[in-house]
Amino acid sequence: MKKYSYLLLIAAVFACKNKPSSDNAGKFAISETPYGKIDTSAITEYTISNPSGMKVSILNYGGTVTKLITKDKAGNDGDVILGFDTLSGNLQKGNPYFGVLVGRFANRIAKGKFTLEGKNYQLALNNGVNTLHGGLKGYDKVIWTVEKLAGDSSLQLTYKSKDGEEGYPGNVVATVVYSLSAANELKIDYKATTDKATPINLTSHCYFNLSAGADSTIVNHELFLKADKYTPVDTTLIPTGKIELVKGTPFDFTVPKLIGKELDMVKGGYDHNWVLNRTGKDLESIATLYHAASGRFMEVFTTEPGIQFYSGNFLDGTLTNTKGGKKYVLHGALCLETQHFPDSPNEPSFPNTILKPGETYTQTTLYKFSVK
Ligand code: GLA
Repeated sequence: MKKYSYLLLIAAVFACKNKPSSDNAGKFAISETPYGKIDTSAITEYTISNPSGMKVSILNYGGTVTKLITKDKAGNDGDVILGFDTLSGNLQKGNPYFGVLVGRFANRIAKGKFTLEGKNYQLALNNGVNTLHGGLKGYDKVIWTVEKLAGDSSLQLTYKSKDGEEGYPGNVVATVVYSLSAANELKIDYKATTDKATPINLTSHCYFNLSAGADSTIVNHELFLKADKYTPVDTTLIPTGKIELVKGTPFDFTVPKLIGKELDMVKGGYDHNWVLNRTGKDLESIATLYHAASGRFMEVFTTEPGIQFYSGNFLDGTLTNTKGGKKYVLHGALCLETQHFPDSPNEPSFPNTILKPGETYTQTTLYKFSVK
């Protein structure tokens, strides 16, 4: 009997050794696929896969997450984020930040103005009268340097943002590490340093639809947000500075609720910052998203004080080069952008977003996928 098991073991080892090298089932791997060129720079799509077959694909352009493949309750793979089939899709005017890294300052800064250490700054205005997501050419539209880290489960992206870029002070070095775990978690670790005081607010702008293409909208997704409060906004989506209770309003997601339930009661749809219920700065579970038909369940953990829940209000079916030519219609996906509060540089009562020389900005966010 003992001899028989020994023979079986040898046979198993032999079988493994003779597997084609492209078959990475059962281990972590990172593959690279050419994705086009911007001027003379090669754009590459890196795909990290984990032992159970979850996959995340990332570009050096904008640090963009292009694909996120997870299993449904029947064990079928599906891509749970919106995106494009080709680089020309990503580069089109009006790409609504699909999957990108957002910086130097996520969300809006009122009239693109702030005062820091007695100096007035004027940023580029790219969203009506305001600055949105870092300006005309934010961190989402630049080429990051990518390094594969040991273990074949992480990619490190680095971008050096120059003093004066988009009107912001200070040379900033931003580092983002995307990691996939064996437990189907996509972790994003952000770090930044500067040589002059500057506002910093980094996030990821994935558009989730856990149905993986089966549902054209996210109205049947159930959302939970661990937040008793949110920051109301004016007509240009700038926070009024007030912090209000969600209780008794359509903004209450403290008990899991279908997104479609009260969506019509919010003019323009959800596009607000929720003030997370948290005490310290540890990585904490703060949101869940569930799509019953597929069984896909996503849990969000973060170190940040806020989350922007955006219900895809500007999607109108007009984007081109989308995955499989799919029409991305109104509310076709949602974003859960973990962040500091919008317009913080102009709201002294909001948590601080000013990074000073000698300090290191950090933020960690983790998206964990499972089925139920
Ligand atoms: C964020 C903003 C929205 C919108 C999207 C990108 O979520 O809050 O208003 O600009 O980004 O389209």
